[in-house]
Amino acid sequence: PAPGWAIDADVVVVGSGVAGLTAALRCAAAGLDTVVVTKARLDDGSTRWAQGGIAAALGEGDTPEQHLDDTLVAGAGLCDEEAVRTLVTEGPDAVRRLITTGAHFDTTDSGDIALTREGGHHRRRIAHAGGDATGAEISRALVEAVREAALHTIENALVLDLLTDAEGRTAGVSLHVMGEGQHDGVGAVRAPSVVLATGGMGQVFSATTNPSVSTGDGVALALRAGAEVSDLEFVQFHPTVLFLGADSEGQQPLVSEAVRGEGAHLVDADGVRFMLGQHELAELAPRDIVAKGITRRMHEKGTEHMYLDARHFGAAMWERRFPTILAACRSHGIDPVTEPIPVSPAAHYASGGVRTDLRGRTTVPGLYACGEVACTGVHGANRLASNSLLEGLVFAERIAADIAEVRPPRTEPADAPRDADAPVPLLAPEARTAIQRTTTRGAGVLRSADSLATAAEELEALHREAAADAEADGAKAVVPGVDAWEVTNLLLVSRVLVAAAREREETRGCHWREDRPDRDDAHGRRHLVVRIGPDRT
Ligand code: SIN
Repeated sequence: PAPGWAIDADVVVVGSGVAGLTAALRCAAAGLDTVVVTKARLDDGSTRWAQGGIAAALGEGDTPEQHLDDTLVAGAGLCDEEAVRTLVTEGPDAVRRLITTGAHFDTTDSGDIALTREGGHHRRRIAHAGGDATGAEISRALVEAVREAALHTIENALVLDLLTDAEGRTAGVSLHVMGEGQHDGVGAVRAPSVVLATGGMGQVFSATTNPSVSTGDGVALALRAGAEVSDLEFVQFHPTVLFLGADSEGQQPLVSEAVRGEGAHLVDADGVRFMLGQHELAELAPRDIVAKGITRRMHEKGTEHMYLDARHFGAAMWERRFPTILAACRSHGIDPVTEPIPVSPAAHYASGGVRTDLRGRTTVPGLYACGEVACTGVHGANRLASNSLLEGLVFAERIAADIAEVRPPRTEPADAPRDADAPVPLLAPEARTAIQRTTTRGAGVLRSADSLATAAEELEALHREAAADAEADGAKAVVPGVDAWEVTNLLLVSRVLVAAAREREETRGCHWREDRPDRDDAHGRRHLVVRIGPDRT
C-alpha cells in the first residue's frame, strides 16, 4: 500500500539536538519551509545530557589557533586541519549567537562567561551552564526558540529511508510515526534537502553515557542510501563514568571531565594518583590517554574501577558547581563530598560518521549531516572534550547557509516510501542485548585481532539469521516497530564499526589494539571510508 500521509517542505531536519534544532532555526530564518522530525520528544537525545560544556576561544589570551593546536593533538594525526580551523574560528561567534537565541551560560562576578578546563585543553575555554547542566540549558533554549518560531515538528517519528528522485538526488525521507494524530503510521516528508542530525550510536555498547535513543539511525540510513561513512572505528570511551557494577547496562551517569578540570584526582584503591608521570597534563591529558591509563591500572590491580577523588571541593562547591553529578552520585548511594567516586570508562562518542565536506554535504546530493552523526573531519581519531556541541552549532549554521544559497527545487521521489508491512530483514528487538555484549567484548575500550574476529563472526550470524527469517516468514517475521528498526540499525553500524576496527591494524587515538600497540604513520594516516548502498558517485 501507498504511504498513509505525505507532506512537502523545502528542508526536513531529522533529529532535535543542538545540531538539528540550530539547522532548523537557521533554515526557517532564511525563509525555507522547514520540518523537524525526531524519534522521541524534542528534548530527548544526547544534547540534554552534556555536562562539561562547549569549547570556544572566548577567554582572555586564548585564540582559535591555540584551540586548533589542542584539537589537532587530540585527533592523533587524523583531523582535517581546514575543518578544525573552520570550527575554532567560527566557534566563538556561534556561541554568542546561541546566547542571543536564549541560552544562559554561567558567568563570573564581573559578568564574563565563566570558563573551565577539560582534558586536552591547555587553557580554560569551556563555557558551561547551570554548573554541570550545559546541554540541558542549550536544549531548553533551542526547543523554546523552535516553539516560538512555530516550526513544524513531528515527534515520535522514526526515520526509515532516504527518498530519492529519478536522478538519485535527495527527495525526502520516509518515516514511521506513532501516536501523532494526523501524521500517524508510515508516511513521508518530501523535501529536496534532508539534514541528518540524529546523534550517536552509543547504544551499540552495553554501557554508555548515551541515552537509549542513540542507536545509530542516521549512519544506518546513510549507509542504506549509499552515502559514504568514515572513521567508525574511533569510538571514544569517556574515562570517568560512575561505576554501578560490572553488569550495569544501558545509559550510565557521566562524571564530567570538568570535575577533573576543577582539580579532582584519579586514584586507585590505595589512593595513588596513577596519571602522574603518564602525561604532562596528568588527569587532564586527552581523553583517550586517561581512559587507557584507567584501564591499564584496572588490569594491573585486578579491579573493575578506579576512583575520582574530589572531597577537597567541599559541600558548597559541589552544590554550586556540579549539582547534577552530586545528585546522580547520591541517588546511587555515593557522597562525593565525603568519599571518592568509583569510576570506569564507558562508550561516549562516535568520532566518525557520515562523511561531509565543510558545507555539511554528504556524498548523496541534497543529503546533509551535522552533529555526532557526521564525520566533518574535526575530531580525527579522538575528539577533544567539549568540541561536539560546538561542532553541532558551527556546521548546522553552515548547512543552513548552503541550503539557503542553493535553494534546490522540489522534486518527486522516484519510489514509494517503504511499506511498513514489507518483508525487510528486521531483527527481533530481543537481539539488542546480544549485539551490545558482542560489540563490547570485541570492540570495547581494548581490542585485538582475535576479539574483533569473534565479534565479526557473531554479528554476521545474527545478520544471516535475520535475513533467513525474513525470507521464510515475510512480513510476519518481526513486527516492524521502533524497537525492531533500532536493533536492525545497531547491527548494521556495529558490523561496519567492527570491520573498520579490524582493518585499522595500529593503535591511534581512541582505537586501542593490544596486538598492535603502536601508532603506524606509514599505513595508518588514512581514513577508512565505507559505502554499501547504491552507488551515487
Ligand atoms: C564531559 O562533561 O566530560 C563531557 C564533555 C564531552 O564529552 O565533550
